[in-house]
Amino acid sequence: MENEKRAGFTSSFGAVAAAAGSAIGLGNIWRFPYTVGQYGGGAFLLIYIIFVFLLGVPLIMSEFIMGRRSGRNVLGAFRTLAPQRKAWQSVGWLAILSSFLIFSFYSVVAGWTFNYIILAGAGKFEGQSSEAIAQIFSNFTTNTWSPIFYLGLFIFFTALVVVKGVQKGIEKTCKVLMPILLLLMILLCVRSITLDGASKGLDFLFKPDFSALTAQGVLSALGQALFSLSLGMGCLVTYGSYVRKEDNLLKTSVSIAAADTLIAVLAGVAIFPAVFAFGMNPASGPSLVYEVLPNVFNSMPLGIVFATLFFVLLTIAALTSTISLLEILVAWAVEELHMKRIIATVFCAAVVFAIGVLCSLSFGALHDFTICGQTIFGLFDKLTATYFMPIGALALTLFVGWQLPSADSRDELSNGGALKCSYYKIWLFTVRYLAPIALVIILIAGSLGAEM
Ligand code: PHE
Repeated sequence: MENEKRAGFTSSFGAVAAAAGSAIGLGNIWRFPYTVGQYGGGAFLLIYIIFVFLLGVPLIMSEFIMGRRSGRNVLGAFRTLAPQRKAWQSVGWLAILSSFLIFSFYSVVAGWTFNYIILAGAGKFEGQSSEAIAQIFSNFTTNTWSPIFYLGLFIFFTALVVVKGVQKGIEKTCKVLMPILLLLMILLCVRSITLDGASKGLDFLFKPDFSALTAQGVLSALGQALFSLSLGMGCLVTYGSYVRKEDNLLKTSVSIAAADTLIAVLAGVAIFPAVFAFGMNPASGPSLVYEVLPNVFNSMPLGIVFATLFFVLLTIAALTSTISLLEILVAWAVEELHMKRIIATVFCAAVVFAIGVLCSLSFGALHDFTICGQTIFGLFDKLTATYFMPIGALALTLFVGWQLPSADSRDELSNGGALKCSYYKIWLFTVRYLAPIALVIILIAGSLGAEM
């Protein structure tokens, strides 16, 4: 039983596929392009990449260290690594709460995507004006039952994978889906850059125009990096507990960050040339992929096929992320509440569905129900992105930097001395000083009302 419970990934590719699967999600293909669009393109991209490698990679390593060292879920990791210091466990609880909330509102958007595969495949956007396409989006999202149905379906598929366990469920699924995702993405990029007038979009993405970059843009880049790398809520602590002792944590972390950035950039390459080629607005915000892209696909040959493939791609990306969100919760429920895996899965999925229904209704029946001026969906999104994830990331980095004995972190990074670890001091400096300072800045700016 104990063995079965702690079964881990069987290979380094499996670990990278699962963790990159978590990282690559709606954050890359839905959120990243519209954020780049809003904050002026290339300059934002450059700052973003700097954050991912300068801060993101050391933070991924820190979460992995906690997970692999303790061999536990996120709450259990704090309990095992600092048994005397109970206060740290509140960070574990915060991570569990964040996972419930993020999973709930994330699945609502993932559910929309699911429906869009069907709409696109059935040719529902064909020949429609852009007003009509915007109307389809708003009719669907403000409807009561249909989005709830797709939300439920999405959570159900996620649970179906997670219930099978770490090896047969998560690792196996991610190993198959991640290469498919990359192939689909490349196909869409090729289509997009071979359109007439595509170069304007590539210029927008790759030519940095620093005059377009604001302080808010810089903060958003850091917030986006945290979200996109699934940091600050114990996801990579949980996955870290499944990483094999002989895997190189630096290499694994760099591979995950690189894969995540590659897909985000490719999403930009797939989207912006097409948006510019058809004269759409790159700064149209969250509705970019649901309202603008169907128009774009409409105007290209074989549009139905490419539109359907795009939403399949988005669904795959979202699924491998919700799998990781559910696993954080299931690992916690199994190890801390001593539930059987199947019961833990059903229990966590049911709670997430219940909260998800409220988030889904935020676009329709509960649209006018606001707390602090936000709908329930908006509140959960804001609470987690502006406070919980940065606080979680800050606490995790302080824990690994200051609480965990440096002999332990060095031991994990060097695999007990087997690997050279000449970067150790730089890593420790980043985790102790640079990352906490950057995170405190995001937190203060976020609380002062800068939009993240
Ligand atoms: N990183 C995921 C994305 O980019 C979102 C996520 C956040 C997943 C936190 C798990 C944990 O879409």
